[in-house]
Amino acid sequence: MYFLLSIVGFAGVLFSGANAAPHSNLDVRAALDDFVSQQSTVSLQGALNNIGPDGSEVPGAKAGFVVASPSKVNPPYFYTWTRDSALTLKMLIDEFIFGNTNLQSYIEDYIHAQAVLQTVSNPSGTFLPSGLGMGEPKYQVDGTRFNGAWGRPQRDGPALRAIALISYSNWLMKNGQSNKAKTVIWPIISNDLSYVGEYWNQTTFDLWEETKGSSFFTVQNQNRALVQGIQLSKDLGVKCTGCDQAPEVLCFLQSFWNGNFTVSNINVDNGRTGLDGNSILGAISIFDIDAYCDSPTMQPCHSKSLANFKVLIDTFRETYSINKGIPLGSGVAVGRYAEDVYMGGNPWYLITTAAAEFLYDAVAQWKARHNLYVDETSLAFFKDLYPAVQVRKYDSGNENSPFAQIMNAVTAYADSFVAITEKYVPSNGSLAEQFNRDTGVPLSAIDLTWSYAAFVTMSQRKAGKYPSSWGSRNAVAPPATCSATSTTGVFAPATAAGAPNVTSTCQVGVTFNVDATTYYGENLYVIGSTDDVGAWDVDNALPMGAGSYTPADPLWTVTSFLNAGETVSYKYVRQENCDQPYLYETQNRTLTVPACGSDGITQADSWTGQVGTAGTC
Ligand SMILES: *[C@@H]1O[C@H](CO)[C@@H](O)[C@H](O)[C@H]1NC(C)=O
Ligand SMILES: *[C@@H]1O[C@H](CO)[C@@H](O)[C@H](O)[C@H]1NC(C)=O
Ligand SMILES: *[C@@H]1O[C@H](CO)[C@@H](O)[C@H](O)[C@H]1NC(C)=O
Ligand SMILES: *[C@@H]1O[C@H](CO)[C@@H](O)[C@H](O)[C@H]1NC(C)=O
Ligand SMILES: *[C@@H]1O[C@H](CO)[C@@H](O)[C@H](O)[C@H]1NC(C)=O
Repeated sequence: MYFLLSIVGFAGVLFSGANAAPHSNLDVRAALDDFVSQQSTVSLQGALNNIGPDGSEVPGAKAGFVVASPSKVNPPYFYTWTRDSALTLKMLIDEFIFGNTNLQSYIEDYIHAQAVLQTVSNPSGTFLPSGLGMGEPKYQVDGTRFNGAWGRPQRDGPALRAIALISYSNWLMKNGQSNKAKTVIWPIISNDLSYVGEYWNQTTFDLWEETKGSSFFTVQNQNRALVQGIQLSKDLGVKCTGCDQAPEVLCFLQSFWNGNFTVSNINVDNGRTGLDGNSILGAISIFDIDAYCDSPTMQPCHSKSLANFKVLIDTFRETYSINKGIPLGSGVAVGRYAEDVYMGGNPWYLITTAAAEFLYDAVAQWKARHNLYVDETSLAFFKDLYPAVQVRKYDSGNENSPFAQIMNAVTAYADSFVAITEKYVPSNGSLAEQFNRDTGVPLSAIDLTWSYAAFVTMSQRKAGKYPSSWGSRNAVAPPATCSATSTTGVFAPATAAGAPNVTSTCQVGVTFNVDATTYYGENLYVIGSTDDVGAWDVDNALPMGAGSYTPADPLWTVTSFLNAGETVSYKYVRQENCDQPYLYETQNRTLTVPACGSDGITQADSWTGQVGTAGTC
């Protein structure tokens, strides 16, 4: 109800803004400020509406779980992703530290939810003994596992969660609650940093869940998490397992630069240029107001980041027809990457605002350093904005100084990305995932939590609100030669934060084989009585593969790890085409998983019950 009321007020503001016909740059800027101020209020509420247990848009979500979007079909985003949740909480924690004390209960709920979530066995693996389950990207909104086929693991999640929780721990320490930081929150962070230290050098799905390789965004955040972990563990007097990997991770981060731009996904050949909004989102998520611009952490003000920004943004000038005619040096609608075809390949709200945030960050860093070095690498970026620019050092000066003029030009460039966002935000302020590349009409998931969170962080930076330094200056320089290394993690349930006291979860592989003649377009699943096999919820059943299917031997198969010693009821279920109802076997089958340490078992079954027919659609 509150949300709807605030929307009505907001629409009125926009309407009067549109009629006001601003006369000067000052009016234009004031109108943009009004938009940002209104939209950031709507956006903060929009994010909160998607968090359990009380979020108005997400009934059924448990306390502390951030739902990606209320959208249940086309696309189905009614799940909780570790990445989106951590980025949203980082925003809420910063808002809380900036003074919005109402947000503390969300943070406390999140801490509890994540402590439990770390221990949940899932298709990426178990929590004990090696932390593998923490690479799982998404879960049901009640914190149970998601069994569907997915791009897993995604190794940015633990790093991002650690970063969010470290920010809150630092606040606790400054406010006389070091003991809570040490006993309740550190055990969660410690698991996450152990995960990063052990697995940073293994491939991962990227933040768009499409590409398995090494992802710039992931590596950048992994480095930040470990650097902050070193400092926090010192402050708390605890040991950080895995943090010793920070210099190697930083070393690896340097290899994403190809001489002209950041190749966002390496160790993969996906036929793309590598120009990807990944690199802008990475830079803003490791922004440090105290950083030096030549820091190898690749801050927004780094020459390579700026060069990459120009090349990347310019690809979108060509890609989307809504950007046609917008001159160089003026903001455009920004998407994931030029070759994108998901939902037709469109600009995203959260990446367009990220472009603005990136530029506000860079300006803040130059102003804080009182200087700017333009070099051959960054020259082209500045040329579009300030044609008189030269390769040299600019020191800060009065308001007519070249330094001040360049700052104004980059700030105006940032504002122009916000103005593009404003143009394509519907009058009620709701932020979907994307907007149409030809018409600008919102599309894909409605009320995307990440879109809202990204708008709020952009408006914080625009307003000159910066999270305190994360210590990038203290990051140990990368070694001259990079090595492929790993530190074995130490994993233990964070019981003081509410995690169940799981001991080593012993699982045994069970292969389900069923002979079932199917028509092209029909799919098979295993469904059963435990969470591991979907707890009789067909949306969470285990998808089977037909890779060895022949007419003579119509084999469907899937292997899953089930808890040793447990008895499971299960059956097979057919998914029909053309929205026909699912067909279940009539009988319930039973299996008993062998004892811990046993070899895996295979169920050799034949379909019983009704078979399907292809629909006409
Ligand atoms: C592992 O690290 C080495 C050294 O930095 C690097 O060459 C290699 O590409 C990395 N592999 C992955 C998958 O991270
Ligand atoms: C970098 O840009 C230069 C000049 O356009 C070009 O000659 C070179 O091939 C580019 N290198 C890469 C790796 O794209
Ligand atoms: C807001 O506007 C969008 C786009 O016009 C629409 O899809 C959505 O349902 C509206 N939301 C509310 C809460 O009215
Ligand atoms: C958790 O279980 C272990 C092993 O059973 C036990 O040693 C430990 O005290 C338990 N911790 C808590 C907090 O209950
Ligand atoms: C048998 O299967 C159905 C789902 O088809 C399930 O609802 C029911 O609980 C199962 N019964 C037993 C005893 O497992």
